[in-house]
Amino acid sequence: MPCAAGRRDAEIFCADVLSGLAESPKRLSPKYFYDAAGSALFDRIVELPEYYPTRCELSILRAHAPAIAALFPPGCALIEFGAGSSRKARILLAAAAHIETYVPIDISGDFLHEDIAHLRRDFPRLAVHPLVADFTRDFELPQIGPKVGFFPGSTIGNFEPYEALAFLRRAGEMLGPGALLVIGFDLVKSTHVLEAAYNDAAGVTAAFNLNLLTRINRELCADFDLASFAHRAFYDRARSRIEMHLVSLRRQIVRLNGRAIAFQEGETIHTENSYKYTLGSFEALARDANWSGVETWSDGLFCVQALRTTRDG
Ligand code: AVJ
Repeated sequence: MPCAAGRRDAEIFCADVLSGLAESPKRLSPKYFYDAAGSALFDRIVELPEYYPTRCELSILRAHAPAIAALFPPGCALIEFGAGSSRKARILLAAAAHIETYVPIDISGDFLHEDIAHLRRDFPRLAVHPLVADFTRDFELPQIGPKVGFFPGSTIGNFEPYEALAFLRRAGEMLGPGALLVIGFDLVKSTHVLEAAYNDAAGVTAAFNLNLLTRINRELCADFDLASFAHRAFYDRARSRIEMHLVSLRRQIVRLNGRAIAFQEGETIHTENSYKYTLGSFEALARDANWSGVETWSDGLFCVQALRTTRDG
């Protein structure tokens, strides 16, 4: 019996991994980075001197929280997509006492629930409705309104342009006519600064990338030899994206759930894209998805934007 049998999440994970590794080039989805160990490594990434996006976004949010909060309608619900922690939402919640409900959505339930108890303690008048869901698939929002979407962290950068478009369109439909979306995205900049952010000197990003194989070994009964794969990250300026890969350092066969997966020396598993935008390219994307810019806050490295749905129904 395959080791992931019987647990629905594990079966989806297994099917995704098998189909990704059957593709050419091989690939794995970055949404699987965030098991307990991966989330802990990501918490270390955001503190790295080379990794600027989180620091930049936090200071933008802190500096402009009153202006952002002033756009929120009274009695609104703040819907956060991919709320690994409520750290960023807390900045908005503290500045906007008129937020009635907070709906953090995350693929990992453990992380959410731990955080929610603290949040309820710190914001006793706030209704908190955590939702465990994969927001790249379909899910239902509770009946509350008016809704303000919050999608920080440049998580949108993980999406292919067509997926980003689909996500923004779906978010617009879900949040409803006239809804607001506060979104953070990373800006195109020098190759040196971009590549350093994904190749930190301490090797934390490498450990984060390789942890995906550790997770697959543990959860899917695989035998990836961690010493036979290496982290690689580079900026592709033509595509405006950082690519992360795991490079096979030798010819090898990996067993996974009873299957054999062959690797050539130098063959890679593409584990992540992190798209970078210009103000112009992001505006074009948003416009195609029926959102228009309300306000932009940026420090030149990172950008937070408030968008409103263009179709008022
Ligand atoms: C969480 C997707 C925004 O793309 O910068 C950090 C993930 N990967 N270092 C990013 C990540 C490697 C991060 N996002």
